[in-house]
Amino acid sequence: MNTNRKIEFGDFQTPEFLAKQVCDFLVQRGILPDVVLEPTCGVGSFLVAAAESFSQAKLFGWDINTKYVEQTRVALSKANASDRVTVATQDFFKHNWETELAGFQGHLLILGNLPWVTNATVSSLNGANVPAKQNFQGFRGIEARTGKSNFDISEWMLIQLVKALRGRPATIAMLCKTGIARKLLRFAWQNDGRIASASLHRIDAKKYFGASVDACLLLIQTGSAGLTEAPVFESLGAKTPSKVLGLAGQDLVSDIRIYRKLKHLEGLSPYQWRSGVKHDCSSVMELWRGDRNFLENKLGEEVELESDYLFPLLKCSDLANGRTEPKRFVLVTQTRVGEDTSEIAVKAPHTWNYLDSHRQLFDARKSSIYAKRIPFALFGIGEYSFAPWKVAVSGLHKIPRFVLVEPFQEKPVLFDDACYFLGFETKEEAKIVAEILNSEPCQRFLSSLLFEDSKRPITVELLQRLNIHAIAKEAGLVDEWISVRNQKSSYPVENIEMQAEMVMERPS
Ligand SMILES: C[S@@+](CC[C@H](N)C(=O)[O-])C[C@H]1O[C@@H](n2cnc3c(N)ncnc32)[C@H](O)[C@@H]1O
Repeated sequence: MNTNRKIEFGDFQTPEFLAKQVCDFLVQRGILPDVVLEPTCGVGSFLVAAAESFSQAKLFGWDINTKYVEQTRVALSKANASDRVTVATQDFFKHNWETELAGFQGHLLILGNLPWVTNATVSSLNGANVPAKQNFQGFRGIEARTGKSNFDISEWMLIQLVKALRGRPATIAMLCKTGIARKLLRFAWQNDGRIASASLHRIDAKKYFGASVDACLLLIQTGSAGLTEAPVFESLGAKTPSKVLGLAGQDLVSDIRIYRKLKHLEGLSPYQWRSGVKHDCSSVMELWRGDRNFLENKLGEEVELESDYLFPLLKCSDLANGRTEPKRFVLVTQTRVGEDTSEIAVKAPHTWNYLDSHRQLFDARKSSIYAKRIPFALFGIGEYSFAPWKVAVSGLHKIPRFVLVEPFQEKPVLFDDACYFLGFETKEEAKIVAEILNSEPCQRFLSSLLFEDSKRPITVELLQRLNIHAIAKEAGLVDEWISVRNQKSSYPVENIEMQAEMVMERPS
C-alpha cells in the first residue's frame, strides 16, 4: 500500500502480541462476550486473539480494505475459527450502526483499533475517508477557522458506536490516543451515553506502533449512567491507578480526587490572561543579532531595520527553561488587530521594504484568519501586549513555570503564540502574582486540572480558572497582594473580594 493511502486510512496494524495481551486482560476482568465485533479489523490481529480468548463467541470483522479482509479470513481459518466468523469489506461511514448493533444478541464486545488520522490530514491528501457531516462538535466561525474543528476520525467513529448502542449493556475495548479517550468520555458523560464505568490503561505506542503519541486501551461498560470519572492506569498490568480523571462541571480534570480537595482555589481570575503574538511567518518576523551585529533571520539574510517595530521576544522554550533575557526580536506591525499597516512605509521605510520583499511568504500563510486582511497582519496583539511587566508561562510544557519578565532595552517583551501572560504596570504587582502562581497550592491545583500528554497542557481557559485571591490566601501571600493592588488602584480591593466570591459552582 502506498504511503499516502496508509496515512489516509490511519493504517497502524496492531501487533498480534499486543492484541493477545488486550484479550487476556479482558478475560482477567471477567469479560466473556457472546459476540465480538471489530469494526475496522485490518489484517485481523484482534479477531485471531479473540478467537483464542473467547472460544464460544461469534466473531464479526469489517474493514474498508478488501485485501485485509481476505488476510483476516485466512488467519481465522488457520486459527480454526472459520465456523463462527463473519468478515466482510465494509466502509465504516456507510453503516447503519444502530440497526447493525441492535441485530447482535447477547453480550457484545466492540474491540479493536480504529484509524489513526485526522479529518484535516485526509483533506490535505485530497482523500475521501471522512464522515459526510464533519462539524459534529458544533464549532462555528473563528473556532472552526482556527482549527478547533479538526478532529480524529476515530473520535467520530467511537461517538457513533456509543450513540448507536443507545444505552444497551456492552463492552467497548479500543486502543486509541489518550486524548481521544478523554474526548469520547467527555462527550458520553455530557450526553447521557450511559457509561456505567470506564478506565484508561496506557500502552507504549512507540514500541508497538512506532508512533510518538500517548495511547491507551479505553475500556468502557455501557448500559447505565455511572460515576463521571475514570481511573488511569500506567500500563495494562498496573493494579492501582496513577490518577482518576473526571468531569467537573463542563470540564474534564486530570485528577478529580485532588481537584475536589482544592476546588476552593477555582473561580474567576481578576486578571485577563492573554496569548502571545501570532504571525505564522517566523522566518521573516523573528530576528536576532548575529556576529556582525546585523539582524539575521531564519532565511539566512542579514538586514538593517529601524528599531520602531522591533520588540524583544521570548519563546515558550525560553520560559520553560527560565531564560528571561531575550535573544530574539519580533517585528510588531500593528498595535491592535485590524490596524492599518501602510504607515510603516512612511515611518520605517527599511522595515516596509523588508516586509514587502517577503510578501509572498505572508500571502502563503495557511490560516484563513489572514485571508483578505491587511498586509503583514498579526493576531494576539493589543494594548496589553505592550504592558512593561509581565508574568508569562509556556502553554506547551507540562510543568507550569510562571516567569517574571521585565522590560528589555527599554521595551516591553513580547511572547510567541504558544505562551500565555498577564501584563502589569508595576514590578511589585507582577512579582507577587508570579509568586502566588508558583506557590505550592497553585501548582498542585494546576496539576489536578491539566493533562500532561495534551499538545497544549496549559490554555487560557485553564489559567482563567485560577482564583488568585483564594490561592494567595492559601499560600499566605494575600496581604501582600492586596496591598500592591490597592497601591495601583486600577482594580479596587472591593472588586477583588467580590470576584473572589464568584467561585464557579462545580458539582463534586
Ligand atoms: C489503526 S488500523 C487498525 C487495524 C486493526 N483494527 C488492528 O487493530 O490491527 C485502522 C484500520 O482501519 C481501516 N479503515 C480505515 N478507514 C476505514 C473505513 N472508512 N471503514 C472501515 N475500515 C477503515 C484501515 O484499513 C485499517 O485496517
